[in-house]
Amino acid sequence: MDGNTASLLDKVLQGAGTGGADIARIDLDKLRFSPCREWDYSKRVKDCRRDDDMAVIFDALDGADAVILASPIFFGSVSAQTKIMIDRFQCAWLDRTERPAGSGKSRRRGAFISVSAGAREDFFKNASSVARNFFATIGAKCSCELFFPGLAEKDDVLKHPDYLEKAFEAGREIIKEWMMADNITVYSTPSCPFCVMVKQFLKDKGIAFSDIDVSSDQAKAQEMVEKSGQMGVPVVDINGRIIVGFDKDAITEALGG
Ligand SMILES: Cc1cc2nc3c(=O)[nH]c(=O)nc-3n(C[C@H](O)[C@H](O)[C@H](O)COP(=O)(O)O)c2cc1C
Repeated sequence: MDGNTASLLDKVLQGAGTGGADIARIDLDKLRFSPCREWDYSKRVKDCRRDDDMAVIFDALDGADAVILASPIFFGSVSAQTKIMIDRFQCAWLDRTERPAGSGKSRRRGAFISVSAGAREDFFKNASSVARNFFATIGAKCSCELFFPGLAEKDDVLKHPDYLEKAFEAGREIIKEWMMADNITVYSTPSCPFCVMVKQFLKDKGIAFSDIDVSSDQAKAQEMVEKSGQMGVPVVDINGRIIVGFDKDAITEALGG
């Protein structure tokens, strides 16, 4: 991948690199993976990680704090390669619907870059909606979208230093925002109704958090007791402030109102 999209993506990554991020760039063009066929999902989650290069993507995403998706506009939306990759995340989507609250990484950020020859806003909107669906599925908050119209020929982007600068700055911002993001953990058990309520409360506000089931993790249960001085759930840790029970006011205040 060495067109306009790649040049802009590299600029974003360079910007992110100045913030100390460890970066892995994956070129979908260099991978071999097949499209989703829905009937595969009868066996659900494991089938998504079929024996092809999607494993590279799943593995990279497992530990990623930020994910930057870059695609040209092809016929009014993201490229076919991008869409095929996203469709293969249906397993993650099913996984999320089975574990509705807070299954994502709490501070994971997403950013989307797209370029086109023309300047049709509806095409960027189409692409954005697909990208946002992807970010929701991988538990990433989409904190940045960059659209670059008017790039018809290869290397046209080099005639737009403003585009390249914008991309670089965006990379720096993504990392800065990630560093400043709230770090929220909910300690809960599956059978506790207030745990469900507190997680739904955060979800309704669009706030990502780590969900820890203390009934199945002894070490984390101990951590919760040490933090809160008691054994009841839920316990919410917002940037080190410990809130016991489903206390809407305290949570709202800890989140900055
Ligand atoms: C198959 C194909 C479909 C395209 N469809 C559109 C389109 O619908 N709208 C548009 O503005 N540009 C379209 N383009 C132009 C590309 O978005 C544009 O050339 C872009 O700079 C390509 O990015 P790249 O240099 O990273 O390959 C299309 C290009 C190709 C190859």
